[in-house]
Amino acid sequence: AAEDRRFKILRMGWDELEASIAGCIACPLCQSRTRTVPGVGDRNADWLYVGEGPGAQEDATGEPFVGQAGKLLDNMLAAIDLKRGRNVFITNIVKCRPPGNREPAPYEAQQCEPYLARQIAMITPKLIIALGKVAAQNLLGTDASIGSLRGRLHQHSGIPVIVTYHPAYLLRTLTAKAKAWEDLCFARSTMQRLGTA
Ligand code: URA
Repeated sequence: AAEDRRFKILRMGWDELEASIAGCIACPLCQSRTRTVPGVGDRNADWLYVGEGPGAQEDATGEPFVGQAGKLLDNMLAAIDLKRGRNVFITNIVKCRPPGNREPAPYEAQQCEPYLARQIAMITPKLIIALGKVAAQNLLGTDASIGSLRGRLHQHSGIPVIVTYHPAYLLRTLTAKAKAWEDLCFARSTMQRLGTA
């Protein structure tokens, strides 16, 4: 049944995919969510940013990264001449808010995975930026730490992946900002190497 569901999702177009996410009852997060947060941006983006999951403001609005962490993400984008919606798509590992902003459980991430897989297949980004531990570990299938994953290229379904700190972590940990800046520069130079600046 899980294989059938995944197979179906992997053949959906955008409208069907977003309707499917909006009506999803595949994991317990559907019981506590206000709105689903499928992701926003340029469906032909070179850059795909993947976070962990919606927080309170995202759950209320249906848009990813609109709270405090989102403002910092906008600044991180601006630092490398990017703008939300222009050559950038932003989404999360899970499309529904985990209660109290706890981390998504493995089962929740697993049930949500076909949606992200379909988004990646349709967007075909040149580069994926994993924001934080949950995004990195789920995309790369590892339990390694951010510290050990950042600073080098990884791959997810043939697409280069760069790992950096989650903006919410950076808000709490000012000492990590210099490393996040290095990651942004690494991402920008990687994209230049890949073709489009
Ligand atoms: N944190 C995330 O990981 N994603 C959001 O959309 C908002 C905050």
